[in-house]
Amino acid sequence: MSLKPEEFDYVADLARTNAAIMLERGKEYLVETRLAPLARQEGMASLGELISRLRSQKTYGDLHARVVDALTTNETFFFRDFHPFEALRKFVIPQLIQQRAAVKRITIWSGACSTGQEPYSMTMLLRDSFPVLRDWNVKIVATDLSPTVLTQAREGRYSQLEVNRGLPAPMLIRYFEKREGHWYVKEDLKAMVEFRPLNLIQPWPLMPGFDLIFLRNVMIYFDVETKRSILRRMRACLLPHGHLFLGTAETTLNLDPDWKPVQFGPATAYTLSKA
Ligand SMILES: C[S@@+](CC[C@H](N)C(=O)[O-])C[C@H]1O[C@@H](n2cnc3c(N)ncnc32)[C@H](O)[C@@H]1O
Repeated sequence: MSLKPEEFDYVADLARTNAAIMLERGKEYLVETRLAPLARQEGMASLGELISRLRSQKTYGDLHARVVDALTTNETFFFRDFHPFEALRKFVIPQLIQQRAAVKRITIWSGACSTGQEPYSMTMLLRDSFPVLRDWNVKIVATDLSPTVLTQAREGRYSQLEVNRGLPAPMLIRYFEKREGHWYVKEDLKAMVEFRPLNLIQPWPLMPGFDLIFLRNVMIYFDVETKRSILRRMRACLLPHGHLFLGTAETTLNLDPDWKPVQFGPATAYTLSKA
């Protein structure tokens, strides 16, 4: 199934306007591969038919949303990039345990969490390395634009291939159970994470003050103005002592001078503190 240039432009515009995802010319093959299964599911013989159907609807509807969902890149794995998680284990969480001792509460945001490996990696790290947090109120709010990834994340269901990527075997044994060929995150771990739909380029619902924000490997898809706007809005979501972690290819540099880099070993985080 292939796309004509003006059909590709229509899809690129849909992704840019509704998710800030930038698809330049040259990405035709990627778009075709991602949309062909959806067209087939809808009983359509070609991508042209899918685009005509989208164009014939005056307002953004369910089919548009499914196209945008299909265009998201959901690549993720457990303990991705390793160093940010080591930074949490060695520096950030021990500091937070001191700073939040009076309230015994830690709230974390995993933005653009995809299929959930990132927030579940955090829960395993907290359980494994910080037994003192057992009687604290620890909550991870995990959000993504894509309903498809959120469904899998909420189920906590992973294939053998997915658990083979980054998850240490002892953690697999401790925190997952195998049913009907899949690995499921155990309930007590799942209870620490609340998955919610959230499109980063739309208004955000009232977000609690977070001690820690992970927003990794999503801003790479956005243009400079969108990155600036997200970083500006993030400021109001982070508590003064908090830290923001971005993906290894992402930075606040030249985007927002209010965010200051802090080094935790090889990992860089960003803070709003003036110190
Ligand atoms: C490459 S994954 C990153 C997952 C995880 N943070 C990591 O680093 O492994 C990017 C995620 O961003 C989500 N995404 C893309 N555009 C978005 C938007 N406008 N708002 C919220 N999430 C978005 C996609 O659905 C996808 O799951």
